[in-house]
Amino acid sequence: MKVGFIGAGNVTGTFGRHLINAGHTIVVSNSRGPETLADFVAGLGPGTIAGTKQQAAECDVVVLAAHWVKVPEALKGIDWRGRILIDATNAHMDPKPDISLAGVTRSRAALKLTGRTSSELVAEMAVGARLVKSISNMPMAWIQDFSPNKPRTVIFTSGDDIEAKRLVIELINSTGLIAIDLGSLVIGSAMHDVGGPLSGIEFHFVQRLR
Ligand SMILES: NC(=O)c1ccc[n+]([C@@H]2O[C@H](COP(=O)([O-])OP(=O)(O)OC[C@H]3O[C@@H](n4cnc5c(N)ncnc54)[C@H](OP(=O)(O)O)[C@@H]3O)[C@@H](O)[C@H]2O)c1
Repeated sequence: MKVGFIGAGNVTGTFGRHLINAGHTIVVSNSRGPETLADFVAGLGPGTIAGTKQQAAECDVVVLAAHWVKVPEALKGIDWRGRILIDATNAHMDPKPDISLAGVTRSRAALKLTGRTSSELVAEMAVGARLVKSISNMPMAWIQDFSPNKPRTVIFTSGDDIEAKRLVIELINSTGLIAIDLGSLVIGSAMHDVGGPLSGIEFHFVQRLR
């Protein structure tokens, strides 16, 4: 598959490397343009292409991998209708809490008060996207073993578009990591979103030999 990334930092460098190792191609983008990404692309090697946000968004699957405060800007200007978008963000309160994001305060307490998960807010901004929340439930440091016998670390997914979620699960599983479906965007995200009971816990799939 061809996977686009909006953001070219830790998440892209880590999950992107797993994708490349599995034979996928990635298109990486940031806010400053493809010409600023030469070192990043060289670091990941063949299979990595620097692109614009639009080019990243035109891939089979797109990963939103920018900081929470940058999300409105990162999503802007793209027609998201019909595109499969993985929300890898965490609604961290940095750099400072309680400032307005698309008219909604984004402190964790406020999110709880609104009764909505951060992915629901992303869905409102990426109108028409086939949104899947994933690759966000753990620090990337936990999946930086790129060897063939790496631990089969669990990556949670949730979303309402069954076909989009199936494709994302297939993509994650193709890397040797293991995707587990936690259900709908609302129910699942509440479990693996930052602050949820399954966030920040390391699970490995272990196959028992009989
Ligand atoms: N790091 C982790 O372990 C981890 C784990 C799970 C989830 N997450 C979540 O994943 C997201 C990304 O984290 P990260 O650690 O990868 O961050 P990072 O290393 O700081 O990278 C963020 C990237 O986003 C780009 N960016 C900023 N504004 C942008 C815009 N308007 N359009 C396009 N790209 C933009 C930045 O590049 P420019 O500033 O040059 O544009 C940078 O390349 C965050 O929401 C984080 O909470 C991180």
